[in-house]
Amino acid sequence: MKILVIGGGGREHALVWKIAQSPLLTKLYCAPGNPGTALLAENLPIGVDQLDKLLEFAYKNKIDLTVVGPEQPLSLGIVDLFESHGLKVFGPSQKAAFIEGSKAFSKDLMRKYDVPTAAYGVFTDKTEAEAFIKSTGAPIVVKADGLAAGKGVIIAQTCQEAVEAVNDMLSGNAFGAAGSRVVIEEFLTGEEASFLVITDGRKIIPLASAQDHKAIFDGDKGPNTGGMGAYSPAPVVTKEIHEKAMELVIKPTVEGMAAEGRPYRGVLYAGLMVKDGEVKTLEFNARFGDPECQPLLMRMKSDIVPVLLAVADADLADSEIEWHDKAAVCVVMASEGYPGDYAKGDEISGLDMVADIDDLYVFHAGTAAKNGTCVTNGGRVLGVTALGSTVAAAIKNAYKGVSSITWRGLQYRSDIGKKALER
Ligand code: AMP
Ligand code: GLY
Repeated sequence: MKILVIGGGGREHALVWKIAQSPLLTKLYCAPGNPGTALLAENLPIGVDQLDKLLEFAYKNKIDLTVVGPEQPLSLGIVDLFESHGLKVFGPSQKAAFIEGSKAFSKDLMRKYDVPTAAYGVFTDKTEAEAFIKSTGAPIVVKADGLAAGKGVIIAQTCQEAVEAVNDMLSGNAFGAAGSRVVIEEFLTGEEASFLVITDGRKIIPLASAQDHKAIFDGDKGPNTGGMGAYSPAPVVTKEIHEKAMELVIKPTVEGMAAEGRPYRGVLYAGLMVKDGEVKTLEFNARFGDPECQPLLMRMKSDIVPVLLAVADADLADSEIEWHDKAAVCVVMASEGYPGDYAKGDEISGLDMVADIDDLYVFHAGTAAKNGTCVTNGGRVLGVTALGSTVAAAIKNAYKGVSSITWRGLQYRSDIGKKALER
């Protein structure tokens, strides 16, 4: 089979790494990919939003399966476009990806189908938003309705801060059109978990549990990022929490999407807040999480290709996914300044040193090749991912890799996985 992976981050390197192990594969492409995917696939110089060029390539080269990593092409309707040309593709349709593309839509869906989530209001008017903020009180959460590359969520500690965030968004200064409508919601406390499933719209296969680390600094301090590290399994997802997530969150959502005429096929990612044995839904994503995808795919024992293909064919009935017993931990190494403006072009050294460490793989995200070296080219640069017989052993192995790699100004969290150890 000829397979095309769309995207160029750590998630897509992990997908390429896993797909490359499939005996069903004959040729693998990645668009646009990165220097890491180039080791396993042929990179194509096509951006994730160049839908016509991606279609032309897949059509001419008779690609048997296209796997879409990021949200942007999904929201632009890549799945609908490919399918209308008879091409198989893994991912939700444009209408289904709206569950991530509009936070207002996703909150209204949750309300309609009784999915537990924070109390909220949706606003386009500043005065009404301000009244809601005053009546709710702080801390309070302000979210841009549309896609904002993971940056559209403001946790406001005071009502004043919340009102300013709303004004910034509604006046179009922050996040452009994505912020022309805002969701304002109750601030939830507890421990977060990333709960991902694969579904064909009927059958649902839960993936192993995982936990992300959103904040930039140790101890969950500082601004939120796309994710500074992740591990799997996540002990916060006990058997009871797993059942509740499936029964109260995932099943009604998959059924609700079908009832709304938006049948969901692909990965559905629920960001959960767990507290006192109860779950509430923070958000839905229409794709694999990044970095969660990296530890998850390292733990996946089954060949992923038949599963992806079955979803593209809307027939998961005979599919199952097996997992390795080992734990996996991913530590993200980021550029100086991230998640704000960050440096680029710094030479990365030590990648050759880690190549021999057992049960460890370095997934590339924001890297570029330059004169035979590898340089930084994004906020999140590498995902150093390791297996271990326990989470503690996986943490030790991952940080062994991290300590061998360096560049000017690099930053990473030194407490990835600590919450799992505390349980
Ligand atoms: P979202 O993109 O909606 O998941 O928001 C990104 C991050 O913001 C989440 O992972 C949480 O850390 C935080 N967050 C979002 N909504 C809330 C909420 N209602 N209460 C507390 N934290 C939240
Ligand atoms: N790591 C969070 C996300 O992928 O949205």
